[in-house]
Amino acid sequence: MHSFDVIVIGAGAAGMMCAAEAGKRGRSVLIIDHASVPGEKIRISGGGRCNFTNIHASPKSFLSQNPHFCISPLSRYTQKNFIGLVERYGIAYHEKTLGQLFCDGSARQIIDMLVTEMRDGGVEMRFATSVESVVPADDGFELKLNSGKTRCKSLVIACGGKSIPKMGATGFGYELAEQFDLPIVETRPALVPLTFDANTLAKLAPLSGVAVDAEVSCGKTRFGEAMLFTHRGISGPSILQISSYWREGDEISISMLPGADVAAILRDAKRMNGRQAVQTVLGAHLPKKLAQTIAERLGFNGNLADLNDAHLKAVDAAVNQWRIKPAGSEGYRTAEVTLGGVDTKALDQKTMQAKSVPGLYFIGEVVDVTGWLGGYNFQWAWSSGWVAGQAV
Ligand code: FDA
Repeated sequence: MHSFDVIVIGAGAAGMMCAAEAGKRGRSVLIIDHASVPGEKIRISGGGRCNFTNIHASPKSFLSQNPHFCISPLSRYTQKNFIGLVERYGIAYHEKTLGQLFCDGSARQIIDMLVTEMRDGGVEMRFATSVESVVPADDGFELKLNSGKTRCKSLVIACGGKSIPKMGATGFGYELAEQFDLPIVETRPALVPLTFDANTLAKLAPLSGVAVDAEVSCGKTRFGEAMLFTHRGISGPSILQISSYWREGDEISISMLPGADVAAILRDAKRMNGRQAVQTVLGAHLPKKLAQTIAERLGFNGNLADLNDAHLKAVDAAVNQWRIKPAGSEGYRTAEVTLGGVDTKALDQKTMQAKSVPGLYFIGEVVDVTGWLGGYNFQWAWSSGWVAGQAV
């Protein structure tokens, strides 16, 4: 039976980084994936251009039951380190917005870079390979693969979360953690569009496809970015961000003209010309369909002259303090990431090794560390993968 120093399960962002680093340190490494090619999520990420990191990545942009856990990996392999790697490969990139770095060309350049790094490290790659069982063995683990049995001293679980099952996401990492009695923080879809009940949807149906720059808050958390009405509810960056903090039953508050005093705008317009309709004035600041829907919902279809100060304040509230209770989310089918995962209290942040199972490592999305939208999740994959790559 062939034996390796290291076997990595999952040739995604974290697994490829870890395998390349371990290989370059002289370890014999096998990386396996049940998909037929590596890095499928990288390929589709960032609309095909991969938002590979964020200039502003820091622990405050990550959610975890233990917010301190990610500090060490993120500071040992930073966004600057990954940008340096990208530049060494001559991959052109640009900042799109809010520190988000994208390839100028294609996400495939990032995959090719990581595959080259693995080749340079002498990593053996096997695709279309599934794991039937993992059992502890003398000085390591024995794996039963669909292609036969193999052994390793260090086993790295890098098989991601549950999001987008049709792309091969499985709960395998969590099942393996449970097999070794490691605790799991409850998982849920995150960075995901939110949905409305049928009643609300019927009222908002005409708005499907309308986008606004909004400020969205849930409790004390607030994000200001674009929001999009969909035929199922709301989406867009600000909604995806807030979805990681939202829980069933929570209300979210949406400001569609953040910073603007809408009552004052309407009062001034009324003074100038009271025969204007509310929706006409709002339509100068908001998409016309949205302005019309707000006026209709309030029953303010007449002239500004017909409205008193309380009415104008009601319009202000409808625009800037729209409080709504989403019915749910679109779930793992479209979620970009999985919140929760292997509990960090069971892992060593210097190595990503399970404290109670020497030789077993968890990296990337399978761990209870989830980033904001905007390149943060890949940075976590690179950082946690690199850290484990130095330790295995
Ligand atoms: P990842 O999911 O990348 O890799 C896991 C690998 O394990 C896969 O190759 C899978 O096939 C394999 N696997 C799973 N189960 C297995 C099993 N039982 N046996 C063998 N192999 C198995 N983030 C970001 O920072 N910037 C961005 O632009 C985007 N864009 C984006 C778009 C979309 C549509 C999605 C769904 C997600 C993003 N993300 C993102 C999130 C990002 O893709 C995600 O955080 C990382 O890919 C996680 O890296 P991992 O290596 O942990 O898992």
